[in-house]
Amino acid sequence: MIFQNGSTREGIMLILRRPDVKSPEQNEPPATPAEELPGPMRPRRPEDFDAFYAGTPPWDIGRPQSAFLSLVEAGAIRGRVLDVGCGTGEHALMAAGMGLEATGIDSAPTAIALAEAKARDRGLTAHFLVHDALQLVSLDKQFDSVLDCGLFHVLEDDDRRSFVENLRAVIKPGGRYFMLCFSDRQSGSFGPRRITRDEIRASFDKGWQVDSIEPARLDIRMGPDGILAWLACITRT
Ligand SMILES: C[S@@+](CC[C@H](N)C(=O)[O-])C[C@H]1O[C@@H](n2cnc3c(N)ncnc32)[C@H](O)[C@@H]1O
Repeated sequence: MIFQNGSTREGIMLILRRPDVKSPEQNEPPATPAEELPGPMRPRRPEDFDAFYAGTPPWDIGRPQSAFLSLVEAGAIRGRVLDVGCGTGEHALMAAGMGLEATGIDSAPTAIALAEAKARDRGLTAHFLVHDALQLVSLDKQFDSVLDCGLFHVLEDDDRRSFVENLRAVIKPGGRYFMLCFSDRQSGSFGPRRITRDEIRASFDKGWQVDSIEPARLDIRMGPDGILAWLACITRT
């Protein structure tokens, strides 16, 4: 697979992967289907999330999500990039590996410290900040592409409204928000709450154009099949 900048998918993965991180095949995946995992695990407060990063959380797969790699292949991610709720930074580092200016923000200080260490280990330049996604306005910066893997689906209704307003303030007109979240098609009650296509459309009904909401997969550390997800591509009008 050839990317726009002439590099191959395999080449990008080599740049992005920490040398000391095992491949997913080597990464002792217990063959437990996601719906059989103990649950529910619903961290809500910033300190709950931070505690998860003392170990390796289920979502921290050590590489970019394949759904986002497909967006890279399609040439959809461009310009100045913000990774919201970046965790240990895989998607900001993916953008940095493409030569884009990349910023990652997360409320969990431990995650941000790990992201900074990955950037150093991989020789990549990305800016990582401990910052609240409900206060994006105070970043005082605008972005062409915003990536969200797993943040939108952890927000409560009121926070979701505030997040979308903040998002609108930091995306340039014509800029795009790419979001991967748990889908209502996923069975079981573990993990975050499930999101419907209608909820996504309703959240972005004013000042946005919803370009697509497609079935996708969210890869996790346990189980080979991942989580049924939605990949939403949304343009700020
Ligand atoms: C499911 S994890 C996904 C992390 C990362 N995007 C990934 O793909 O590995 C959700 C992340 O959102 C962060 N988060 C939750 N609420 C937040 C908030 N209000 N502001 C910033 N980050 C937040 C958590 O600390 C956590 O790292």
